[in-house]
Amino acid sequence: MRSYTLNAPAKINLYLEIISQRSDGYHELAMILQSIALADQINIHSLSAETIRVHCNHPQVPTDKSNLAYQAAELMARQFPEAFAKYGGVEITINKHIPVAAGLAGGSTNAAAVLVGIDLLWNLGLTQLELEELGATLGSDVPFCIAGGTVIATGRGEQLSPLPGLDDIYIVLAKYRSLEVSTAWAYKTYRQQFGSSYLRDNDNLAARAAAVHSGEIVKAILEKDAGQIAEKLHNDLERVVLPNYPQVLQLRELFATVEGVLGTMMSGSGPTVFALVASEQQAQTVKQQVRETIPDEDLELFVTRTITHGIQLV
Ligand code: C5P
Repeated sequence: MRSYTLNAPAKINLYLEIISQRSDGYHELAMILQSIALADQINIHSLSAETIRVHCNHPQVPTDKSNLAYQAAELMARQFPEAFAKYGGVEITINKHIPVAAGLAGGSTNAAAVLVGIDLLWNLGLTQLELEELGATLGSDVPFCIAGGTVIATGRGEQLSPLPGLDDIYIVLAKYRSLEVSTAWAYKTYRQQFGSSYLRDNDNLAARAAAVHSGEIVKAILEKDAGQIAEKLHNDLERVVLPNYPQVLQLRELFATVEGVLGTMMSGSGPTVFALVASEQQAQTVKQQVRETIPDEDLELFVTRTITHGIQLV
């Protein structure tokens, strides 16, 4: 019986700009996504029966069909019925380290690992692009989680243009364990409040180019200038999440005052807030300072760093 263990990194959004409403109900975005070292480990092996089983060490993670990793296995079984019949079912064990419902793509990266793992387990020989296309049907962040690194993501987040990898910028992450923000709620609320400023003619390339403001942060990334990257961080969803979630706002404001923090932003639809920091030692000091200011045990803090890859075999 073959078995694979895969490393499934989380992501942060260095940039998230909402451009317009799409006809499929999603939003047209301009994002810069960044893989980070904080990762889950996914073990996947064949079962004799044609069933899918998911286990997870985290009590908040469902192990039924609502788990995106389960849906990834189901998708592969549907797409490749002969391989499913030949190799049997799959047992997926998720060792969770990434906070759940955090804006860090924890569920998406688990699904990405399952796609890559089943491709190996069933000898399918799919290309990365083929895996990304399958991933896009599961969720907007799944293709990025397969590819990883530092990437400009457009469309609903699934169209990827890689940037040169950013290695070893240190990051402090802060998330209240009990706090969750629904991504669908965040986008819906944004549309209700700011939809009138959306670009109307999304097919007009010139208008679209003029509406996107990511140029300066892309330049900073190309120059690998951590200070400039930190200054140009942006996330439109902060406009709806910060006023509605005082704890997120508090973290955001606290990080901005801590010495050593180059820049701070909420990741995705939150509620995780991150700070970019120049060295690991400074990151540990920043973490300690935040901990001393907010001794609440519900607050989880992590020190991690940028990495240049997505799903990898262990
Ligand atoms: O694609 P994913 O399942 O991660 O998206 C979750 C929800 O976030 C969607 O159902 C949609 O409401 C919202 N969303 C959006 N535009 C995007 C991505 C997500 O409106 N580009």
